[in-house]
Amino acid sequence: MQNFNNYDLLTTALRQRRQKLASLIDFPVILWSGSSISRNYPALKFPFRASSHFLYFAGLPLENAAIRLESGKLELFLDDALPSSTLWHGEMPKRAEIAALIGADADFPMAQLKLRSANAATITVQDSLIQSQQSQMLDRPLTPSKSPVGIDLELTKAIISLRLTQDAASLAELRSAAAVTVEAHKAGMAATGTAQIEAGVRAAMESVIISQNMTTAYPSIVTVHGEILHSEHYHHTLQAGDLLLADVGAETSTGWAADVTRTWPVSGKFSPTQRAIYEVVLAAHDACIDKISPGVEYQDIHLLAARIMAAGLVDLGILRGNVEDLVAMDAHALFFVHGIGHLIGLDVHDMEDLGDLAGYEAGRVRSSRFGLEFLRLNRVLQEGMLVSIEPGFYQVPAILNNPEIRTKCKDFVKWDELEKFADVRGIRIEDDILVTNKGREVLTAKLPTKAMEIEELLR
Ligand code: GLY
Ligand code: MN
Repeated sequence: MQNFNNYDLLTTALRQRRQKLASLIDFPVILWSGSSISRNYPALKFPFRASSHFLYFAGLPLENAAIRLESGKLELFLDDALPSSTLWHGEMPKRAEIAALIGADADFPMAQLKLRSANAATITVQDSLIQSQQSQMLDRPLTPSKSPVGIDLELTKAIISLRLTQDAASLAELRSAAAVTVEAHKAGMAATGTAQIEAGVRAAMESVIISQNMTTAYPSIVTVHGEILHSEHYHHTLQAGDLLLADVGAETSTGWAADVTRTWPVSGKFSPTQRAIYEVVLAAHDACIDKISPGVEYQDIHLLAARIMAAGLVDLGILRGNVEDLVAMDAHALFFVHGIGHLIGLDVHDMEDLGDLAGYEAGRVRSSRFGLEFLRLNRVLQEGMLVSIEPGFYQVPAILNNPEIRTKCKDFVKWDELEKFADVRGIRIEDDILVTNKGREVLTAKLPTKAMEIEELLR
């Protein structure tokens, strides 16, 4: 059985979450946990991850399970393990024990779900096999989770309104994911002096996470090619002169995530050009975090980062022109190619399975502007939200070597000056920030960001 911080805290939270849901909708809901996918024989499975909506209300990562929620009551549908599985998997807790643990009001074998499925809403899971089960049980076609209709849309909106802010139980988990992630990054820095290739640093970082019985919340990015935003290769050798970008976050055993990025010099010391750009990114990072407070528009925080990046690049001689004009032309986005951050919760990009229904306030649509199209969160910040702040600078060859872009931007990008910064392929600095009634709390604050402190840790 999975362990988590505090069973009482969790069961209280689970009860409160379903009561809150019941206050928002008046129809039954069925949520599926999902199942793991087999490789070349049935018993060899890819790692299982329960659906986050299921986890939010059921608390435990049960496989092949479903819950039915109605008027604040929870029914658990799960088959007891077959006696023959004991040989391979040991004695498993019985459904009744699990039901008691999560405070279920009733529990049934899976076969009975069909009898209780009339007029129920759901959220379509990603796995197509489970999708067809959902459709069969509910006896109707389903739409993708990002474009629900009817009661599924009403349910989606209700769940978003709950999951947008954290409660005491989720915060306890998120704090422990953040704390372990901080230690993982310190271990990565410590391992850099002796590691030969990126994988050596990744191993040191993930080892901290695994040793706390956690997993990674997303595939770790540990790379000397920081310009590849989601690089999943770890074979490059570490060479003095390289910057190493590590975007690694832990996920607790009940599914709560952290998401942290640091960038450090392999040699232990930033070159003057690396340091100069690092300071610009850090200035954006610090100013954006300082601005976090209830009532603030997250998009304004993104635009603040854009202005600081543009101003910094003007100071360094890479861009020329008036900062406001540069931002209006998306000049900063040639280098700061993504949004300032996103929601964090049970998923690292929390609720992104719901498209922009969660990330964007009702009535807002994502801009197609180069500098805004990757902004994943466009809401007014509320107390209890957990968000990332992650400005970055990247020299992406596909953008900067594109002849059309080079010609179009020749009046405000000093291409010759940029060449002096060739040893800066990618820098990102990312922390996880809770919006509080006083303003903010950086859950990952124990991991230094200042260049000098990072150099100190590397020594
Ligand atoms: N940690 C990966 C991302 O935020 O996209
Ligand atoms: Mn992130």
